[in-house]
Amino acid sequence: MGQPERHTIISRHNAYHGSTVAAASLGGMKPMHRQSGLPIPGIVHVDQPYWFGSDRSLTPDEFGLVTARAIEDKIKELGADKVAAFIGEPIQGAGGVIVPPDSYWPEVQRICDKYGILLISDEVITGFGRLGEWFGADYFGTRPDFMTIAKGVTSGYLPLGGVFVSDRVADVLIDKGGEFFHGYTYSGHPVACAVAIANIKLIQRENLVERIKTDIGPYLQEKWRALGEHALVGDTRMVGLMGAFEIVKNKDPIERFEEKQGAGAAFRDLLIEDGVCMRAVGDTIICAPPFILSHAEADELIDKTIATLDRLKKALSA
Ligand SMILES: Cc1ncc(COP(=O)(O)O)c(C=O)c1O
Repeated sequence: MGQPERHTIISRHNAYHGSTVAAASLGGMKPMHRQSGLPIPGIVHVDQPYWFGSDRSLTPDEFGLVTARAIEDKIKELGADKVAAFIGEPIQGAGGVIVPPDSYWPEVQRICDKYGILLISDEVITGFGRLGEWFGADYFGTRPDFMTIAKGVTSGYLPLGGVFVSDRVADVLIDKGGEFFHGYTYSGHPVACAVAIANIKLIQRENLVERIKTDIGPYLQEKWRALGEHALVGDTRMVGLMGAFEIVKNKDPIERFEEKQGAGAAFRDLLIEDGVCMRAVGDTIICAPPFILSHAEADELIDKTIATLDRLKKALSA
């Protein structure tokens, strides 16, 4: 494209994009960086759109714009002629199911368009229906140039990952470069691809994406929101079947438990004793139940969560 200096990729603190040297560098997990002297050159990070984790002095929409514009500031600092791409998970998963304010993604798209920066949507979690749309980009209305995919493409029955490349990018690679010089021993493995096709057909036949959008998604979301009434819950959020809530010591004003108290991990361990598995990211509890979750199972999930929060409250005040 005659822009040979565009190498830098902008990502976000607390993002998760994988475990190889480059993927962990794209990610914004400080403990991973510390273990290996990462990130590698050419990858920089800006703040994540984590409103609850901020001082909450702005409205969520104001905060969404401020965090999106941090990307623009970084582009100006580096020079737009040096920046290749911005990468983001539509909703950060491993970082704590961070649902960005509504204002965030439209502003990110505007900034990418303005400076000619490619948008990489990491759809490893959000792809193939998790949010009640086929992709996170559909849910947030972005137009990515690349989408990374894995998990949901086979529902995990066989391992398969991949990258979707837009025509805009593929045309340049083919027209100008002639060949894409990367591949893996198992690229396009026919068995994994056959499983993916079977899995996608099943999702279509059972109407599971629509079911998340119009049935089990709204059903669980309403109950999930009501968890916010518990004395230990400072925030709840859920899109499709991907949610989180925040365990807090005090709700007004918000006060977190000290890290060494391990409230999140204690909650997780008590909940597992009760037969329900969620993950603790610090004191953020994250949950992504299967697409076939029944209403009765959703009720059980919520009842056990409330009972466990009660047990945790007792344990913490003992
Ligand atoms: C958003 C996101 N991107 C990338 C990855 C990494 O995928 P893999 O472990 O297949 O390299 C993950 C894994 O959890 C993820 O959640």
